[in-house]
Amino acid sequence: ELRGVVAMDGPSGTGKSTVARRLAGALGAGYLDTGAMYRAITLAVLRAGVDPADSAAVLRVAEAADLHIGTDPRHASVHLGAEDVAAEIRGQRVTLAVSAVSAVPRVRDLLVARQRQIINEAGARLGGIVVEGRDIGTVVAPDAGLKVYLTASAAARAARRTAQDSAEGRKSTVDATLADVQRRDRLDSTRAVSPLRPAEDAVEVDTTELDITGVLDHLLAIVRDRG
Ligand code: C5P
Repeated sequence: ELRGVVAMDGPSGTGKSTVARRLAGALGAGYLDTGAMYRAITLAVLRAGVDPADSAAVLRVAEAADLHIGTDPRHASVHLGAEDVAAEIRGQRVTLAVSAVSAVPRVRDLLVARQRQIINEAGARLGGIVVEGRDIGTVVAPDAGLKVYLTASAAARAARRTAQDSAEGRKSTVDATLADVQRRDRLDSTRAVSPLRPAEDAVEVDTTELDITGVLDHLLAIVRDRG
């Protein structure tokens, strides 16, 4: 049983989402995918016909968006109004634009406030929550009881994303995915506000040579040691 917050940060393709969801399930805790929140806002921006580089217009869309995100690790759900957008936010259109939207400081302020609210509610209701993203250990939940930073080689991450795309029916190639992984790494780690980086007190786990079960067992052992 988890008391408090586990922060899981790192770039895409490290197995972060799968590990975070399974860890939450194993601990009977809640699960929050903050990347899905940035993606849903990005979808709203694109649908409004707004240029993702126009930060004032992006902020207006973010403020008006009726975003709902679930915290059940067994049924990750994301809605805009009543519409389920879980599949559409994984598409290429959103993936290409999300780094620009998430670099707008006031969009981050808005979503970080929502994330803290969700974390507090889940803490009260469930005892604990596993939160995944890029800035959870550094900004959203700096007091998290456990901070994990997952890494893997860019090649390994591109291969995993391509396999995931194909399993979920999206067409992609390893070369194009590798280029996208490297592009987003660069944008996410060089932006002025909340760049992607490990918190000083994060446990770093390199998943290049580990499968999901290996990573999960390692993290469960740490949670048990600390609990
Ligand atoms: O994790 P995922 O790949 O779905 O995240 C999509 C994008 O959202 C990231 O590339 C990053 O630009 C942004 N993001 C962020 N901060 C977070 C989570 C995601 O800036 N906490």
